[in-house]
Amino acid sequence: MQLDYDSLLENYKILQSKERYLEIINSFSLGLMDLNTSEEIVWGITKQVIARMGFEDCVIYLLEEEKGLLIQKAAHGPKNPFQLNIKNPITIPLGKGIVGTVALTGQAEIIADTSKDSRYIVDDEQRLSEIAVPIIYQNKVIGVIDSENSKVNFFTNEHLKILKTVAVMGASKIINAKIKEELKEYRFGLEKLVKQKTSELNQLVSKLQKSNIDLESFAYAASHDLQEPLRTIISYLQLIERRENNFSSETSEYFRFVIKGAKRMNLLLQGLLDYSRVNDLDTDEVVIINMNDIFILIKDNLKEAIQRSEGQILIGDLSEIKGNKTQIIQLFQNIISNALKFRRPEVSPVVKVYSKILDNYIEFKVEDNGIGIDPKFHDNIFGLFSRLNPIDSFKGSGIGLALCKRIVEYHQGEISVGSSTEGGTCFYIRLPRG
Ligand SMILES: Nc1ncnc2c1ncn2[C@@H]1O[C@H](COP(=O)(O)OP(=O)(O)OP(=O)(O)O)[C@@H](O)[C@H]1O
Ligand SMILES: [Mg+2]
Repeated sequence: MQLDYDSLLENYKILQSKERYLEIINSFSLGLMDLNTSEEIVWGITKQVIARMGFEDCVIYLLEEEKGLLIQKAAHGPKNPFQLNIKNPITIPLGKGIVGTVALTGQAEIIADTSKDSRYIVDDEQRLSEIAVPIIYQNKVIGVIDSENSKVNFFTNEHLKILKTVAVMGASKIINAKIKEELKEYRFGLEKLVKQKTSELNQLVSKLQKSNIDLESFAYAASHDLQEPLRTIISYLQLIERRENNFSSETSEYFRFVIKGAKRMNLLLQGLLDYSRVNDLDTDEVVIINMNDIFILIKDNLKEAIQRSEGQILIGDLSEIKGNKTQIIQLFQNIISNALKFRRPEVSPVVKVYSKILDNYIEFKVEDNGIGIDPKFHDNIFGLFSRLNPIDSFKGSGIGLALCKRIVEYHQGEISVGSSTEGGTCFYIRLPRG
């Protein structure tokens, strides 16, 4: 058989070139393996291009899409005086020059003689040939690998083939790293924002707590200290009233008004004092409370009012709760005494108390057959000094329900009001289960 020396040589050359290609690509992928940030990756690529392919320089541009600009991100060769620095980095608008065209069209180009290509932009110095390969990720150009050479016709199709493979390998690595960097930045920003907002919130809470404490101690001091001179005023007024017997009937009447006003003021101050004391109690005073026992006590405390109104207090089988005993008595005594007080004329008050278990809470329902509360006032009757009826028809200072709400909140419970089926009032109170 005749041995075709030429075709053997040709085949040998092809195989040699394939081997070189694979060797270069292999060393590229090994070299890029440990690089993580996008900056490390682009610098890594330019360094490898020079080392493996014997180019004079290699520059990577990345596209800033919003600005439509290609920015030099890495440059090995004369443009890289030391470490990761680029001497006079340039930016190229998309579509401008050879690099800009390649980025716009997504087509790689070899320029055999740059002196004959009007698009050529001189960067650091004029060189006679150029190769520019787009870096494409998911059909979008994200940058360009570019190299120039001082000789005409330097770049070959083999160079092009290798650079195209390098661009494909680099693209996903760059995008991956960029996404990670953006995510990191985003997470960092988010954490910073959360920290800042939390600290602002904490500051606000402590400011509020402080102003609350200040207000409470002011209310306490004011109501406590005002009681003393008021008591003196009341006792001297009563003394004068008793001693003085030549008052005209008109003056006597004025005097009675004055005493009545002073006594009412005393009652208001006492109510305010109770109100401001709610948060003073220690949490260790919280105990398991048998609510049936509590209502026996309340009924005894309100014995007179019950008899006077010929009322009935009907108590169901009540569940145990966890709470502060003094406050719980105050709470339900206020609700029951309201139910007795705000009764319909000629109708004996009947108050029913039930309880039911709701997960970790016990819900109490206190229902009466009294005058009821117009639903439009259901939300504001828990405010301090809110009263719906003239003082002459129903006595009171308008502190009772505000105190009840404060006690319930102190126990992390809830209180609300509704109408009973008989047109009376119905209070719902949730307290922690015992
Ligand atoms: N069971 C009820 N039936 C009808 N109205 C009620 C009832 N409970 C409360 N109210 C209305 O809500 C207002 C506020 O009640 P709250 O107990 O705070 O004040 P008060 O009873 O007038 O005064 P205090 O309890 O301080 O002596 C009352 O003035 C009354 O108008
Ligand atoms: Mg009341």
